[in-house]
Amino acid sequence: MFVAGNWKSNKSFNEAKEFANVMSAMSAMPEGVEVMVAPPTPYLAAMGQLEWPCRLGAQNVSATGPGAQTGEYTAEMLAGCGVQDVIVGHSERRDGHGEDDEAVAEKVNRVLEAGLRVVFCCGESLQDRQTDVHFDKVLRQMGSGILHLPVELLDRVVVAYEPIWAIGTGLTATAEQAQEMHAAIRGWLREAYDESTASRIPLLYGGSCKPGNADELFACADVDGGLIGGAALDPESFRAIVDAAGRVAATRMHVDTNS
Ligand code: PGA
Repeated sequence: MFVAGNWKSNKSFNEAKEFANVMSAMSAMPEGVEVMVAPPTPYLAAMGQLEWPCRLGAQNVSATGPGAQTGEYTAEMLAGCGVQDVIVGHSERRDGHGEDDEAVAEKVNRVLEAGLRVVFCCGESLQDRQTDVHFDKVLRQMGSGILHLPVELLDRVVVAYEPIWAIGTGLTATAEQAQEMHAAIRGWLREAYDESTASRIPLLYGGSCKPGNADELFACADVDGGLIGGAALDPESFRAIVDAAGRVAATRMHVDTNS
């Protein structure tokens, strides 16, 4: 299981360090759960120096390599600051900052070339869902963002399904809606690659995931964790979601041992 927190443009630098302290003072993270936090970009170098029980994530990366690109930062620069995972293709970047499929695919390439792991986001708008094109939309995003990758790079790909209508709105996909989309994504990966690749890639759900609904969402067979926005800002609620993932991880490990 994998639980990733995306702070977006929130928290002062002091609050960010305080969050890391609080996380460090908690009991060990549950077995079978990887935990990542993506603070705002200006904090990454300092947070990469801290000892805390979270992988360090970035919320964005430049689509280009080094050079005359004012204000941009390369995947290698992120790696040098201790970043391990990079979120790419979040709807707030696609829709709010004009990132098209081509730019998203370039960013995926840059992250993987730098040896980092990519958290690739996909998801449909409310209108897509209401007009019944949500599967087409998400699988098309998978095609343009992922399909060109050779299979050996897929070990460093995590997919986050984030229905746009559920992000920051308090509306959550039902467990059934999450599971059916995750199953479609898993099926797509099986077709595009193979069974073992498809089953290894963590598929995260994102969109108003919180302590009160995490158990139900994570219990879905094809949900392997969450990409958490608002509920990742408070260490206690983030930890409660991590613990929900821990309960599911324990069940899945039990099934593996007995099969
Ligand atoms: P939310 O955000 O949990 O606040 O809905 C999720 C995300 O955008 O990653």
